[in-house]
Amino acid sequence: MSSLLVDNIGELVTNEAGRGEGGPLGIRRRAALLIEEGEVAWVGSAADAPAADRRIDADGAAVLPGFVDSHAHLVFAGDRAGEFAARMAGQPYTGGGIRTTVRATRAASDGELRATVRRLRAEALRQGTTTIEIKSGYGLTVADEARSLRIAAEVSTETTFLGAHVVPAEYADRPDDYVGLVCGPMLHAAAPYAKWIDVFCERGAFDVDHARAILACGQALGLGVRVHANQLGPGPGVRLGVELGAASVDHCTHLTDADVDALASTRFDCMCADGGHTTTVATLLPGAEFSTRSPYPDARRLLDARVTVALATDCNPGSSYTSSMPFCIALAVREMRMTPAEAVWAATAGGARALRRDDIGVLRPRARADLIILDAPSHLHLAYRPGVPLIRQVLHNGVPL
Ligand code: NIG
Ligand code: FE
Repeated sequence: MSSLLVDNIGELVTNEAGRGEGGPLGIRRRAALLIEEGEVAWVGSAADAPAADRRIDADGAAVLPGFVDSHAHLVFAGDRAGEFAARMAGQPYTGGGIRTTVRATRAASDGELRATVRRLRAEALRQGTTTIEIKSGYGLTVADEARSLRIAAEVSTETTFLGAHVVPAEYADRPDDYVGLVCGPMLHAAAPYAKWIDVFCERGAFDVDHARAILACGQALGLGVRVHANQLGPGPGVRLGVELGAASVDHCTHLTDADVDALASTRFDCMCADGGHTTTVATLLPGAEFSTRSPYPDARRLLDARVTVALATDCNPGSSYTSSMPFCIALAVREMRMTPAEAVWAATAGGARALRRDDIGVLRPRARADLIILDAPSHLHLAYRPGVPLIRQVLHNGVPL
């Protein structure tokens, strides 16, 4: 068994709350970390570092868990740069462009879709994203949703069936029939490749009754629930997610006090080091507000109510064409009243919670050896030096890229 020691770490963010400094970040100084068989085998002081077959000298830099991007739409064809330009000239974002991407995606070959997914997955990995969730939702036929998820499953185990993204043009005047298709043949064709089911619950997409019916069908087949909720306006999506025990409700841009209370009510307190979390996570996607020039969600309000918050990119060709978690961290700190520590936690451990994973987003023995060596002495630099490529090296499953 070959071992790899990451040595001479100036600041190690473990996300083991209560261990070391920095509250939930569990920061150790002058640390080292041993990797065996793709997992963290030991974490401790550099002075006590064990011998290993190979060694990486972090040279005093900060090391943190790889980013967990728990919300991305990577299976699509074409782009919508013109729509972006029109928005920056004053046009609002309505989600109407989704149908443009649906047309392009249906027309694309498997090879074209696979190439895009792999290109974006590689782009994200270079920027420190070691886990990425991938949704379907630009096929919206039985065959196109199934192939979208088949291709997504080639690069990620975190795959989500989003057949209920919008009602496609050919069903525009009979949405009930489309819901029947999604709950029946489409779900059955997609489920073998999907771990999660998601619905865009929003005015102009799916109302709460349709959303509930679709999510319940997915749950009956063993899929976990996530919801696109309260993105473009207030609505019932967040409370529906809580009602169904969703792992995550995503966007959360327009929240009432009742929505925040519903999320807070899912809190489960424990005697464990971090004191507990909410079983339904609020996943915030500031790239979407950036790219649609919309007001940002208020993360502080959620954090003050002790709701668990995750940050993700929402990478897609319409509302947020970025794969950069450092960019989202910087936006969250500047625009959403998060501290740098809260944003880094939300982009790593928060994403892991949103995917109900305890083997990622944390650096402790038996966790996946997914980690980032920064070109900086502290995690603070991710928000303090926005737009600067600070990812010096990424290790994925213990393998340096
Ligand atoms: O999460 N809101 C719904 N879906 C995507 C946008 C999709 C698009 O505009 O292509 C989102 O923002
Ligand atoms: Fe999305």
